[in-house]
Amino acid sequence: MCGIIGYCGNKPAAPVVLEGLKCLEYRGYDSVGVAILCDAQLLIRKDAGKIEEVSEKHGLDSLPGNIAIGHTRWATHGSVTQANAHPHSDCSGRIAVVHNGIIENYQELRQELISQGHRFSSETDSEVIPHLLEDELKSGCSLEEAVLAIAPKLEGSYAFLVLSRDDSGKIVGTRKNNPLVIGADGHAYYVSSDALAFSQYTNQVITLRDTEVVILTSDKIEFLDAAGNRLTKQSEELDSSWAGNHKDGYPFFMLKEIMEQPQVLSKTAYQDERKFTDIALDILRARQVIITACGTSRYASLVGRYLFSKVGKKFCDVVMASEFGYFADSVDKNTLVIAVSQSGETADVIEGVKAARDAGAEIVSIVNRPNSILADLSHQVIPLNCGPEIGVAATKTFLSQLAVFYLLSFSMVNSFDKACIQLSDMSSKITEALNCNNDGLIKLSQELKDKNNFYYIARGINFAIASEGALKLKEISYIHAEGMPAGELKHGTLALIEQDTPVVVICPADYAYSETLSNAIEAKSRGAYIIAVSDKESDIYDFWIKIPEVDELLYPMVAVVPLQLLAYYMAVSRGYDPDKPRNLAKSVTVK
Ligand code: G6P
Repeated sequence: MCGIIGYCGNKPAAPVVLEGLKCLEYRGYDSVGVAILCDAQLLIRKDAGKIEEVSEKHGLDSLPGNIAIGHTRWATHGSVTQANAHPHSDCSGRIAVVHNGIIENYQELRQELISQGHRFSSETDSEVIPHLLEDELKSGCSLEEAVLAIAPKLEGSYAFLVLSRDDSGKIVGTRKNNPLVIGADGHAYYVSSDALAFSQYTNQVITLRDTEVVILTSDKIEFLDAAGNRLTKQSEELDSSWAGNHKDGYPFFMLKEIMEQPQVLSKTAYQDERKFTDIALDILRARQVIITACGTSRYASLVGRYLFSKVGKKFCDVVMASEFGYFADSVDKNTLVIAVSQSGETADVIEGVKAARDAGAEIVSIVNRPNSILADLSHQVIPLNCGPEIGVAATKTFLSQLAVFYLLSFSMVNSFDKACIQLSDMSSKITEALNCNNDGLIKLSQELKDKNNFYYIARGINFAIASEGALKLKEISYIHAEGMPAGELKHGTLALIEQDTPVVVICPADYAYSETLSNAIEAKSRGAYIIAVSDKESDIYDFWIKIPEVDELLYPMVAVVPLQLLAYYMAVSRGYDPDKPRNLAKSVTVK
């Protein structure tokens, strides 16, 4: 999970690459590096640390040259050190490579290269790429021919960019299972893992497909297929909502993204009714429906599952994407798979979807990122229309995923319009849930910031909100938190409740209110400090997060937003950066 970028043009390349890398930091932020070509010299500067730190330490901003590649890393193979930071080079230092992905057969390749005399300087899987290229280039071939020759030897996933001192004036890139997009603004060419990295210069984007090769020079771009034949590719216009990457005065992206949820909801609800009706019919007709996703997207899927059952009377299962492969035996052409992913590039989701497609299943995806790998693999794509989400902890995309499931379930009973109207009323309810709790949650976070354990409980459609609330808290404030169905508390977790243990109870006035409250009372009797998320008052609450009254199927939307805020304020109270939690990345492109 790394971000890569390349620039070829008439401006100084280093500032463009560094600005681009800042937009890619959500993909990883433990090390940074650039390689730049200047007067036939290849300069490589890299180090462990965040972009600002490394840039200042190594003067990256002022490196001369108009052609450069850059990398922001999330370590997979090899610890966070300067040697393991990208770009990586060959033995002679004439080639520089930045790579996103995992070369699964790197150990065999590395051993073979070492036995032939190559000297490695890092522990990474990526370093085999420049050494393989070095061997190819000895035969006098061009850089793109060398890339085409080595690509079939690489197993796993990759998107990589190469610069060479001997074939200067160009950047060559290719990909398999990891994204690479190209932009042109009339004076320069850009290539990156995400168009966000160059969206300030151009909205014209070309998506590279698996095994294709791109060659960028300052005045043209060329594309080759895996056999080396020239390809013509068309650019597409980037959705304007995808161009913004600013905090708009908020201290962190996460807070901005939480606060923009009322507006985001209206954008998500703007969908094609015909498409929803067709997909709803396919869901109803399918012998079995499996929803697959990871992390926050999986919790949205669990809400979706309740909606499908409650509204459409259609039972379906939600399978964690990393476990999906173990159920592959029961996937066939009568299966409809709904893959839910903000990024559209989560490796576990992609792998499951590919296997399901091969087995003949129909694939519907719910994605935020346009032109993503998952969107490409799907028969039908439902966009979230949220614009970029930069905070590693998903917030606004979760709410949008809930809205999509709501629309889908009502489409099953021919009531898409009714659902749209209900959703349009929700924007003001979400604003209310945020505004009336903000100050109270700041105080609560101060009070609870030194607690070590939190438990979140709920029933029915809100059970997944308990899990999502707990996930948010642990992701960014590093406090142990567990979410579970309230009825499960007494089957083990109750043993962990001590005096003043915080228990967050999501208990709106719905069909499960009384039972959930009874479970909260059981916890309170053992000393728990009850934080209730509800529209209904009770004297058993120690702290009340008041939410507006809404239709009972819409409570997950108003219940989740104050829990996102609680997690945010807890992280800030504890002195952590909520946008960049330790050890995590937003796009998980490794299994
Ligand atoms: C990572 C992110 C989470 C996200 C999950 C699934 O773990 O840190 O915020 O929920 O991946 O990502 P996806 O892009 O597939 O929704």
